[in-house]
Formats: sequence, C-alpha cells, structure tokens
Amino acid sequence: MALVARSALADRLAAEGVLDAGWRGAFGAVARHLFLPAVYWEFVDGAAVRRDRDADPQEWLAGAYRDTAAVTQWDDGNEAGGHQDFTSSLSMPTMVARMLGDLAVEDGHRVREVGTGPGFNAALLAHRLGADRVVSVEIDEAVARAARGNLAAAGLGGVEVVVGDGADAAIGADGRVDRLIATCSSLLTDVPVAWLGQTLPGGVIVAPVATLFGGGAIARLRVAGDGRAASGRFTGAADFMRMRQQRYQAPPVDAYLPGEWPGDAEASVTGLDPEDIGGSWLAQFAVGAALPDVYYRRAPYEEMVTWWFFDTAVTSWATVDSVPGGGEFDVRQSGPRRLWEEIHAAWNAWDKAGRPGYEQFGLTVTTTGARTVWLDDPDHPWNPTTH
Ligand SMILES: C[S@@+](CC[C@H](N)C(=O)[O-])C[C@H]1O[C@@H](n2cnc3c(N)ncnc32)[C@H](O)[C@@H]1O
Repeated sequence: MALVARSALADRLAAEGVLDAGWRGAFGAVARHLFLPAVYWEFVDGAAVRRDRDADPQEWLAGAYRDTAAVTQWDDGNEAGGHQDFTSSLSMPTMVARMLGDLAVEDGHRVREVGTGPGFNAALLAHRLGADRVVSVEIDEAVARAARGNLAAAGLGGVEVVVGDGADAAIGADGRVDRLIATCSSLLTDVPVAWLGQTLPGGVIVAPVATLFGGGAIARLRVAGDGRAASGRFTGAADFMRMRQQRYQAPPVDAYLPGEWPGDAEASVTGLDPEDIGGSWLAQFAVGAALPDVYYRRAPYEEMVTWWFFDTAVTSWATVDSVPGGGEFDVRQSGPRRLWEEIHAAWNAWDKAGRPGYEQFGLTVTTTGARTVWLDDPDHPWNPTTH
C-alpha cells in the first residue's frame, strides 16, 4: 500500500508540473510515512485532523501520501500548551517539490538545510546527492533527535543533523555549501545575513520569507561572485512557520489605545474595502513588503468586520469597518502615522502596476544587512510609501 501510494503521489506531483524529473526518483524512493510519529495532525481544509496509528492505521498511513502538511509538534513540545501553535511539521509535498526544483541541485553539490523538522526534505536531498553532502540545522533538540531516528530508519542516517539556530553563522559551519534551503520562514526585514557567508559565490539560497502583514513567498537568491550580496526573484506563494526567534508577539491593544475606542482618532471614509487586501495573499504580500512594520487584526462583529492596523513601534493605529456590499467604509486613525492612508497608498501602487505577481518581485540581501524588495529589477526598490 505504502509503495503504491508513494508512487501515485510522485506521479501526481509530476503530472501537475511541480516535481522536476530530477526529483522523481527520490520522491518514489523515500517513504514519507517513516518521517511521521505515531500521532500527527494532518492539515485538511485549514483544520488539523488527528491521525493515530494505533486507532486507525489505514488513515494514518494514507495521510502520509496525500498532498497535505502534517503537524508533528505543538507549542515547542510543551504538552501543557493546549495545542495553540504548530511548531514543527512535515511540509506539504507540493511545496517540498517546488522548493527542491527551485534549488537546482547538481551532482556533487553540498547542501545546508535550515529547519530539519521530521527530516523528510533532508532525506530527499540525501537520496539525490548522498547523505554525506547534506547538513541540516534544527533549533529544537527533541525534533532533531526524532529526525535522526527517522533518517536512520530510511537508511539515510549519514545526514548530519545539527542542533542550533540556523540564522547563526557558527552553527553547522563546516565549509560553504553550493545550496542552502530553509524550511522555516524569516521576515523580509530579517532574512539571515549569515546565509551569505555559508553559501559559495554563485550558489543558490531558497527560502520562504514572510511579511508581518501576511502573505509569504519563496525567495530564490543567487550569491554574487564577491559573496557580498544575494539577489533574485520570488517564485510563488508560501506559508511556512516562522523561525523561532522571529515570532512576533503583538502588544495588547491597550498599549495603543488605553481608553475607549475611538479615543482621539480622526474620522474619515475610504472606498477601499480592507477585505480586498486581506482576502488576497498576494495583495497582503505587496502591502506588507512596502510596510514591513505594520500588521493587522480582524475583529468580526455581527455582519461587519472591523480591521485594526498597528505599527510595531506602538505609535499609531487605525480601524476600518468593512460592511458587506458597502461602497464607503468608516476609518479612524490615531497617532503620528496615518496607517490606513499608507496601506491604501501601497495597495494603489500595486494595483496601478497591474497587480504584479510574486515572480515580478525580487529581493536583495547584502552582508551589510540591507534587505531590499524590488519590482521587476533590482534598481527599482518597492517602496511605494515613505513615511
Ligand atoms: C516546517 S518544519 C520543517 C519541515 C521539514 N524540513 C520537512 O522535511 O518537511 C520547520 C522547522 O524549522 C525549525 N526551526 C524554527 N526556527 C529555526 C531556526 N532558527 N533554526 C533552525 N530550525 C528552526 C522548527 O523547529 C521546525 O522543526
């Protein structure tokens, strides 16, 4: 059953054009169920569904060969955490295939992975390139231990799994690699600069990046000949768990608005429904890339949704009431920044540019710490709003 299911999944990914011919063999050979614990949670239509090998071995196995992500750890392993946040998982096979395709490995390449998780991606790399050519860094010791066991069970125990922060230049540093792949996301403003020093000039970095506003994407960066910068386009949408040290803990609303809403806020109206931004992963990405220090929360109330916008410096906030079918929406803005106007300007610029897709955006990271998002070419930084 597992062998047939494995082959069927690989065939499907190949037929959909997400699995390169060069990866077909590894996908057919590495058994994904060996990377799942006895209990995991399969991500089905946005809900995490428990799969228990003892209770229902067939569904447990079937879930391993569906094109779904599997949560393997909650709340950093804190069992008293009440399953709030998933903190380690086996990525969705489509995403794994797409990113490995972006990586463009060649025989003989050495690869560093950041975010081992259960180890399936590392196993695919090891199958293709040889276990001694793959180093994988995992921040969570228990996750790393489980990954080592899974890799050994799959006959790929030669992969070196290092415990540590994959953004740290000193971790797993054993010479530069040809390819670096991250399977946990970093904020656009915090893509680890250490990766430039860990990758050979001309090498490729494939990494999911996210904005605080929402809407993540895969960046594919090539390291410059002098090693001082890495630059390239985004290849498509992605939603990966954030690197542990980059999780954002938003301050309570009281920190922005100590009294009753709307406080001293200025009132106006807008013709742009915030749902038009929030409902599009790409629009969120375009706005979030322009305004990296702005985030939102949605507060549904009866028929209406109040959108709250905040800056991370805790100086300004705005609300917009989205009413279904409304043509004009009430706005309140408070603080030195007019956050809704900035968001509206960023959205307008994206709209006027013809709503460019991920592939038109790119990113340049330099060893001096600059991370610049650009549109169409590196000489056109994406900064439609300045404040
Ligand atoms: C989505 S999982 C990885 C998926 C996995 N590579 C696979 O084969 O499907 C992300 C992993 O990144 C790890 N992680 C988070 N922050 C990290 C960091 N700073 N350095 C290394 N690993 C990190 C998490 O603990 C988690 O196990």
